[in-house]
Amino acid sequence: MREGSAGFDVPDRDAVLAWLRVEDPEVLEGLWVRADAVRRAHVGDAVHLRGLVEVSNHCLRQCTYCGIRAGNHGLTRYRMSADEVVACARRVADLGYGTIVLQAGEDFGLTGPWVADVVARIRASTPLAVTLSLGERLPEELRAWREAGADRYLLRFETSDAALFDRIHPPRHGQSVARWDLLGLLHDMGYEVGSGVMVGIPGQTWDSLADDVMRFAGLDLDMIGVGPYIPHPDTPLAAVVGDGPDQVPADATTACKVVALARLVRPDANIPATTALGTIDRAHGRELGLRRGANILMPNLTPDRYKACYEIYPDKAALGDPGEDLPGTVRELLRRLGRPVGAGPGGRGNGSVAS
Ligand code: 5AD
Repeated sequence: MREGSAGFDVPDRDAVLAWLRVEDPEVLEGLWVRADAVRRAHVGDAVHLRGLVEVSNHCLRQCTYCGIRAGNHGLTRYRMSADEVVACARRVADLGYGTIVLQAGEDFGLTGPWVADVVARIRASTPLAVTLSLGERLPEELRAWREAGADRYLLRFETSDAALFDRIHPPRHGQSVARWDLLGLLHDMGYEVGSGVMVGIPGQTWDSLADDVMRFAGLDLDMIGVGPYIPHPDTPLAAVVGDGPDQVPADATTACKVVALARLVRPDANIPATTALGTIDRAHGRELGLRRGANILMPNLTPDRYKACYEIYPDKAALGDPGEDLPGTVRELLRRLGRPVGAGPGGRGNGSVAS
């Protein structure tokens, strides 16, 4: 162990594994308290809001866990127009949020120049930081988007177990892109880089989850997104039961353990209380995330007519009531926690934009 922040040790791999295996709620309280103290010492009490806009649900990948996979034909597909996306960005800015997150399936119908143009228009017409989450795209596209003004890129590595990753994420044209290399490339291009994992994937073991947490530190991530795996009935993985002796459960407590450990190994990172956590425990999920290391919320500001079609898993928990200044559920949650809304773009470090 080495001496970390707020008087707590930064856990090494053995300590991470030991925390992951703890079941006693009283012992776990020690993890929650540590993560909360390190969060407060490093990123403060402010909760930054990111407006999430799901730009397209077209996807050419066949990820076996994901409801918008190409093989799911029971889904109405949509792709927003550039004007619609820019209008959403204005709304995000009007709500006082500092960042817009543009997320989509891996959709080459969103061409490189189209995305660059949308990013440039948002940067020219709003004070927002722009985060992209558009999958494994070509280096020249990623570079052009950065030059157009994109600040951050999110690409989860999902699991550090290479065999499990290949099973749930079949390579395109039989050619796998090493996500580690892509994350390094994004970093070198000057993006703030976010990644993360799903917790409780069938076949995921405690050991591999400990490796995941150690990767968060090794990759020097700026943002870490963690949520429980939620089966989607129209996907192949839904039929797979993870019943090995070392199977990680896909529950809120285990996801919170990973959030808390992410905070301990990356004290300065921006860590959201994710929608998946809010979905698996609708009453308390996001609150628990914010109490156990998280400092970010991502209210979904996708236009209502598209929202239901972006079904990566069923019954995604909506956060935010349309038409209010600050969506009511967010305001209520933060009041209960005594945490203020973060001002400005809320990048890693001092709250400034990366560029
Ligand atoms: N359950 C939980 N999370 C999922 N994601 C995709 N499908 C699911 C699912 N069934 C997550 C992946 C992806 C992110 C955008 O959503 O981690 O990277």
